[in-house]
Amino acid sequence: MERGKHDPTPPGAPRWFFDVWSLVYDLPLVQRATYWPVHDAVVAALRGGTCGRVLDVGCGTGQLSSRIRRELPRSRVVGCDFSSGMLRRAAERGGAVWVQGDAARLPFARGSFDAVVSTEAFHWFPDQHAALVEFQRVLAPGGRLLLALVNPPSQLVSEAAHLGSRLFGEPFYWPTMRQMRDRVEAAGFRVERQDRVFRLPGGLLLPPVLTVAVARKGRRGAAARSRRRRRLAPTP
Ligand SMILES: C[S@@+](CC[C@H](N)C(=O)[O-])C[C@H]1O[C@@H](n2cnc3c(N)ncnc32)[C@H](O)[C@@H]1O
Repeated sequence: MERGKHDPTPPGAPRWFFDVWSLVYDLPLVQRATYWPVHDAVVAALRGGTCGRVLDVGCGTGQLSSRIRRELPRSRVVGCDFSSGMLRRAAERGGAVWVQGDAARLPFARGSFDAVVSTEAFHWFPDQHAALVEFQRVLAPGGRLLLALVNPPSQLVSEAAHLGSRLFGEPFYWPTMRQMRDRVEAAGFRVERQDRVFRLPGGLLLPPVLTVAVARKGRRGAAARSRRRRRLAPTP
């Protein structure tokens, strides 16, 4: 639980990087190979519970947000991303409400959602703890968090990937499964399960994992967050 040591501290990858990425993002090959397997896992997990108001953080071009709206007709979905390029594409798709915002400072009131989902985005957030605390804040008590991203098999791989990404000027950090669990719990959640998501070919070496957690109610959630804050070095 070493935020100062392991999280790429601000600034993270620049917004323009995602604006450029949005131009090729929806190519069917890119989507099928990379994103659909984790979207399938999230939609299946949402079906298993009540999912009324859903927030998709780092929604990109809105593929998952609009799919949730389509396949779970009772849901009301808000897609949030900090990239205007991604959000422009999302707006063409429709199906959800699109809001520009940073994961670490979500522009929503406390308790606004029953579920927060985020796929292939969390590793880009420069302050992962701040983002998790925000997810907890905007969730109603008992609301569910569904986070899917690569969780490397060892911390050495996480560190190596982080170093490489910094050298390219687009820093990210993939937590291991254990780190993911610790971070989510430290922000006031109870982790229900962590499922590996099958994805070929890269997924064999760098498997995506879906972490499903429940927001602890009132004081217990706040106590976990402040314990965590006391243990952390301040962000430089
Ligand atoms: C690889 S895309 C994933 C998009 C989508 N979740 C999906 O599964 O198709 C990562 C997204 O995270 C967004 N993102 C990165 N850092 C962010 C931040 N700090 N706040 C909000 N969005 C962010 C990027 O703009 C990009 O759209």
